[in-house]
Amino acid sequence: MAAKRHPCILVCVCLILSLGPNLGAFCTPQVQSFVYSGFNGADVTLDGVAMVRPDGLLQLTNVSDVRGYAFHRDPLLFRKSPNGVVRSFSVSLVFGVQSEFVESSVDGMTFFVAASKNFSSTFSGGFLGLFNDSTDGSPDNHIFAVEIDTFKNGEFMDMDSNHIGIDINSLFSIQARTAGFYDDNTGTFTNLTLNSGEPMQLWVEYDAKTTHVNSTLAPFGAKPRKPLFSTTTNLSEVLKDPSYVGLSGSTGPINTQYYVLGWSFGMDGPAPAINITNLPKLPHGPGSSFQGHRNCPSDSHCGVHRPCGNCHLPYCTEAAEVC
Ligand SMILES: *[C@@H]1O[C@H](CO)[C@@H](O)[C@H](O)[C@H]1NC(C)=O
Ligand SMILES: *[C@@H]1O[C@H](CO)[C@@H](O)[C@H](O)[C@H]1NC(C)=O
Ligand SMILES: *[C@@H]1O[C@H](CO)[C@@H](O)[C@H](O)[C@H]1NC(C)=O
Ligand SMILES: *[C@@H]1O[C@H](CO)[C@@H](O)[C@H](O)[C@H]1NC(C)=O
Ligand SMILES: *[C@@H]1O[C@H](CO)[C@@H](O)[C@H](O)[C@H]1NC(C)=O
Ligand SMILES: *[C@@H]1O[C@H](CO)[C@@H](O)[C@H](O)[C@H]1NC(C)=O
Ligand SMILES: *[C@@H]1O[C@H](CO)[C@@H](O)[C@H](O)[C@H]1NC(C)=O
Repeated sequence: MAAKRHPCILVCVCLILSLGPNLGAFCTPQVQSFVYSGFNGADVTLDGVAMVRPDGLLQLTNVSDVRGYAFHRDPLLFRKSPNGVVRSFSVSLVFGVQSEFVESSVDGMTFFVAASKNFSSTFSGGFLGLFNDSTDGSPDNHIFAVEIDTFKNGEFMDMDSNHIGIDINSLFSIQARTAGFYDDNTGTFTNLTLNSGEPMQLWVEYDAKTTHVNSTLAPFGAKPRKPLFSTTTNLSEVLKDPSYVGLSGSTGPINTQYYVLGWSFGMDGPAPAINITNLPKLPHGPGSSFQGHRNCPSDSHCGVHRPCGNCHLPYCTEAAEVC
């Protein structure tokens, strides 16, 4: 039999938790929102190669052929009652992608909602750390994900090597768009390069009534009014309850580093604002080049073990090492 708890105890614990320097108020199951403006002291569980650097920057990947994860530690209640529909929620993310090559990166990172924190049998590379070759596409996954994808995987019919996609239990996105944003004043579309090494912000909102999912991308700063795209998917038919929210980063043969500067989540409402004055910096700074960041190796430079020619081909690691 559960002991009766004085309501004050919970309130006090919540107050103490919310006083932490980088922690928003979150006290599951009552308050189901959080904001991490930097990850020092954040209530996250890390897995794979993911780490929080001393300055609070979350680094999901650090070398080739790895995956890394950060989960908000406690599961969230996505339904108000066991048979209820999945509630509205919103996510906001400030991230940056830096790669060993100027023009090429692999594979991507995601925000996801999943029933478990155990991703031990998933693959890195184009599987983005979410699935393996036998689980991709299975309704038993109960996974909703937004992919920030920097490599065109033909096997998943990716549209290009620079897109945002909405994934339900599979890497075959239900909808995807080339990265970019619509200007609030002119309505013109501007491309963004995900692996530019600059910080960018992504917002995703799910509306319980209409089952619309909006995804909006922008350079670091204000949120454009018009989403990059909207799609419809009834998450009541996908998600288990409770579920975890998490971030994954995944690389293949090129060393691409997926970083997260800030992350927030709101249930039944907007994602709390990330305090941008507080955010850690990307290690190689805006505009500066990654140490070892270089142009794609050409045949003449790296023909010793294996010609590689064009590092948009995924399998030129050995060649790259020779260069
Ligand atoms: C990558 O991260 C893992 C796990 O944190 C660590 O063991 C490994 O040494 C790191 N590798 C490099 C090259 O930083
Ligand atoms: C994770 O799942 C695998 C099977 O996919 C299982 O062998 C392993 O024990 C689980 N790990 C934890 C920590 O539960
Ligand atoms: C894929 O994941 C499933 C479910 O965790 C597991 O049973 C299976 O062994 C995995 N397959 C491979 C090739 O790792
Ligand atoms: C934006 O990206 C799309 C798709 O990659 C490309 O077709 C288009 O030419 C780009 N536009 C500009 C202005 O670079
Ligand atoms: C999604 O975008 C559409 C079109 O801009 C807008 O009407 C709608 O309110 C947005 N929904 C959410 C939940 O933000
Ligand atoms: C979504 O799916 C649930 C469960 O199947 C259903 O009750 C609900 O009406 C659906 N919502 C919409 C908007 O179709
Ligand atoms: C953002 O962080 C700065 C520096 O820590 C702090 O002075 C400011 O009050 C914060 N702003 C908000 C809105 O929390």
